[in-house]
Amino acid sequence: NEVVSRTRSASKLNLHSIMEEYDSTSNRTGQIWNFATSETETIYLYKTLLTKEHFFNASNLAIFRNELRLGLGSYFNNNVVIDQQNTPRNYTFTFESKKKSSKKQISDDIHKRLPNNISYEVIPRCSIVGNSGLILNSTCGNDIDKADFVFRCNAAPLKAFVVDAGSKSNFTTFNPSILETRYQKLSQPDNVTRFLNDMKEYRELLWAPCYTAVTMENCTKVLKLYNLTENKFVLGYPSHFKKVQEFWKTRGFKKRITTGFYLVNVAISRCRELHLYGFWPFLQEVDSAIKSVRYHYFEEIKPDLSKVEKVHDMQSEFSVLLQLHNLGIIKIHIGRCN
Ligand code: CTP
Repeated sequence: NEVVSRTRSASKLNLHSIMEEYDSTSNRTGQIWNFATSETETIYLYKTLLTKEHFFNASNLAIFRNELRLGLGSYFNNNVVIDQQNTPRNYTFTFESKKKSSKKQISDDIHKRLPNNISYEVIPRCSIVGNSGLILNSTCGNDIDKADFVFRCNAAPLKAFVVDAGSKSNFTTFNPSILETRYQKLSQPDNVTRFLNDMKEYRELLWAPCYTAVTMENCTKVLKLYNLTENKFVLGYPSHFKKVQEFWKTRGFKKRITTGFYLVNVAISRCRELHLYGFWPFLQEVDSAIKSVRYHYFEEIKPDLSKVEKVHDMQSEFSVLLQLHNLGIIKIHIGRCN
């Protein structure tokens, strides 16, 4: 109990000594699909990550992929994006926020702007880039871009971070709240110009889960003014996210999964090799109590982690990712690439 209570705020403590302490009191082996493990276990597992050589294991990937297939049913490897094939004209989506359930119909005007059909081919190598500051000074940019397909989160800026975070992008998420926080709801022409200009950084799909957000109107407004040729602004399919969320709920997760974690699930259904960068829910490096890590690689804000923890359970997610890494299903890259 003492170990558990001391490690609750591991992000503020010396992770190294906590790992040693935990190591001496437990010899737990990882098992992914039954529960979300505690932070203490996360740290223990991290230690094994540090010391073990990594090999991809195709049969473990197949086992886990199958489990996901059973959980997601017809949503597996499909329906990540709302398109004209999977969504009929005037279709009504129902989504639940904390207080109420809402219904939103796809208007004709929106429907004609949806992509015709999105293909979901198998991809040999994928990179998934989380937004942690751990990626700074990693020189992982080339490694990330080596992938056939690169997933990125929440329209993280690229140009200034090419050496560490790369520049390739095939699927970039765009949280609808960004329209408020960065572009003042697109209320003035100069916000619209800046928004469209910033979006030119990305290629292929810019994926926004509009139909899960209370800010839906702002978000679908983007569809109407979007005329970029570099990429397509597409809408996330709400039931797909919900299915992935339910899959993890039955395995012990109580809170909303993060965008990055969702992308790992999307990628597991499509990619043969998954490489993760910038996933690190701590504010310090593991082997240094003093070396701090930015929460986001592209900005200096110091988030109140307790607020983040109210919405997401990044510790449990990270522990699952570590277990997937240990089983050779994904590879988490931490530290320098060369
Ligand atoms: N992430 C991480 N460690 C951090 C910051 C982010 O592992 N220090 C991962 C998370 O999976 C997160 C993703 O990178 O979803 C993108 O980060 P961010 O833009 O900060 O996502 P949030 O806004 O925190 O959350 P959401 O998942 O709701 O979009």
